[in-house]
Amino acid sequence: MTFEYAPAPESRASVSIKPKYGHYIGGKFVAGEKHFPTINPATEEVLSSIALGSKKDIDAAVKAAKKALDIHWSKLSGRERGKYLFRIARILQERAREFAVLESLDNGKPIRESRDVDVPLAAAHFFYHAGWADKLEFAGVGTKAKPHGVVGQIIPWNFPLLMLAWKVAPALATGNTVVLKPAETTPLTALLFAEVCEQAGLPAGVVNIVTGDGSTGALIVNHPGINKIAFTGSTEVGKIIAESVAGTSKSVTLELGGKAANIVFEDAAIDESVEGIVNGIFFNQGHVCCAGSRLIIQESISNEFIKKLQKRMEKIRVGDPLDKNTDLGAINSRSQLEKIKELSLAGDAEGAERWSPQCSMPDKGFWFAPTIFTGVTQSHRIAREEIFGPVLSVLTFRTPQEGIDKANNTPFGLSAGVWSDKGSKTLWAAQKLKAGVIWTNTFNKFDPTSPFGGYKESGWGREGGRHGLTAYLKGVTHE
Ligand code: NAI
Ligand code: MG
Repeated sequence: MTFEYAPAPESRASVSIKPKYGHYIGGKFVAGEKHFPTINPATEEVLSSIALGSKKDIDAAVKAAKKALDIHWSKLSGRERGKYLFRIARILQERAREFAVLESLDNGKPIRESRDVDVPLAAAHFFYHAGWADKLEFAGVGTKAKPHGVVGQIIPWNFPLLMLAWKVAPALATGNTVVLKPAETTPLTALLFAEVCEQAGLPAGVVNIVTGDGSTGALIVNHPGINKIAFTGSTEVGKIIAESVAGTSKSVTLELGGKAANIVFEDAAIDESVEGIVNGIFFNQGHVCCAGSRLIIQESISNEFIKKLQKRMEKIRVGDPLDKNTDLGAINSRSQLEKIKELSLAGDAEGAERWSPQCSMPDKGFWFAPTIFTGVTQSHRIAREEIFGPVLSVLTFRTPQEGIDKANNTPFGLSAGVWSDKGSKTLWAAQKLKAGVIWTNTFNKFDPTSPFGGYKESGWGREGGRHGLTAYLKGVTHE
């Protein structure tokens, strides 16, 4: 027996969006010159008009950040800095519903995820780093570690508030001040965060938020007053940033793309693994750098597994991101949808077999059905390139070593999943996999205490945990 779900829409009443926004610089909202729209990707409704940051705006933001560093922030004890971080964490919790609704409107992700994952984890990052602020001398970084100074931070659109938290919390805990640019399609929660900074009484200029596109990001990267760059986004832009900072004294961390393997061995618990594979690729529409976008499955269980996976995928509810029953929301932008379509067509053309469940999708907005490709080989584009959408490529293996070899056959190395009932096998596999984060019998588990980051083209450095803290300090002497 199957039950029909009645719609269960979350109310928009907790959110008020201004028709136009400026930048948040030196503790004040200042008007921008040129503007561009940010839309709700589920309806194509224009939500607000966003300022395009210019050289003048970045100059002003860097100046404000330097002034705040010199006159205020660098003079505070760690304990005092920590108090601000605790306050921010508490305010994020108090305003959680508002943030979750705004994130789902601007980004297209299901409210179930923004409410249960993005916002609670963002608060957790501030709580965790608040605890470090007065204990840096116990972090194993030596006694001479100092903040870099003014940090430029550029974040993507897939987890807008959460990526802001990953960047801002460690920077402030270690005594840096910040110029942050949110992504052009999802600036609204960063602008609401500016209000949180005011509410927390954070000294003016400690956090500056400048909106804009890649050209604004490049101005931050190349500004001589910036001491460190922290970037999350595409490998392509990561390479441009690495080139730009080479030969300067700027420090840099890059969190880039991935093509994670989820390896399922024949002794794995099948139903649990199916659930983990679904979570691994369809969470956040697959717009996840560590998404388990390659299922690498032992041939002996492959047919049975795919049947179960398809049955489970038929239950995925695609639609209104604000509906509490929705599993898969809207694709973040038209250009991302085009990229997903293009790579999927390449999958068809190269001979893989495409399957999606029947699902009705809204007429307006950007949508893509949950999709799997079977019969994928290692040379296919859909096995090599980051699709960044709800598309899973399935490859098979016979011996465990072949599974590992296929998993490692990628220019990326961000994350991996191992599914097996045998502890010794999961440990063996984890040792052989070249990925920064490896989950066993689970996937997409995030915690502020755990470092996150990649090898090879997935980036430089780690975020979170003690490793992440060190990226915001100079003169670290690992004791
Ligand atoms: P992107 O890398 O262009 O955008 C990320 C951020 O970088 C945005 O804030 C953007 O304004 C900024 N940016 C763009 N060009 C810049 C430059 N030259 N200098 C400084 N900042 C710059 O990513 P995009 O175009 O939105 O997505 C393209 C592909 O990148 C996706 O299809 C996906 O495969 C991948 N991607 C990966 C992410 C991850 O978390 N690993 C996040 C976003 C995208
Ligand atoms: Mg938007």
